[in-house]
Amino acid sequence: VGLKSPAAALFLKMRSWILVGMMGSGKSSVGRSLAAISERRFVDTDQILVHRIGRPIKQLFSLYGESSFRELEHKILAELVPGADIVSTGGGIVLREDNWTEMRRLGPIAYLRATPDKLIERLTVSKNRRPLLDVENWEDRLRELVAKREPLYEQADCCVDVESMDIDEAAEELKRLLEDVS
Ligand code: S3P
Repeated sequence: VGLKSPAAALFLKMRSWILVGMMGSGKSSVGRSLAAISERRFVDTDQILVHRIGRPIKQLFSLYGESSFRELEHKILAELVPGADIVSTGGGIVLREDNWTEMRRLGPIAYLRATPDKLIERLTVSKNRRPLLDVENWEDRLRELVAKREPLYEQADCCVDVESMDIDEAAEELKRLLEDVS
């Protein structure tokens, strides 16, 4: 049993490490690598949501709309307890002020920053189709979303420019920063 088992985490009053950033910034892949090197558990709010509703996010959006998705996303975040976890979030989690309250309750928040060009490059090859980008000019839509959200992401406790880093480099950098602010 590792030092950071759930029971030990509770005993040590460990705080989760939260990852925010745009779609395509690498929250899931970097988060998994970070979890491995920091002996933490990887948790993904989108994954929990999909598991809970038993449908892909895209279907939830098309059947019930974005606001239902946001409600569920908030509920899931509010149910989490601080622990030896890396919490990867959906790109739009930063939109609601009450999500910030919940994220701060869990632990320090890190922003994975990349330019719109880089995000577009990554999303072009991604198999995961995002409902918000299911429009004709999705590149323009992405740029708009980045412009709108950038000031929100910047409220995070620390930031890593993932632009020219590979997954493991970004994870190492995050570990260093998050250990400092924990
Ligand atoms: C969203 C990002 C997605 C997912 C949903 C909405 C957003 O997560 O939560 O499609 O508003 O940016 P990823 O950031 O993991 O792609």
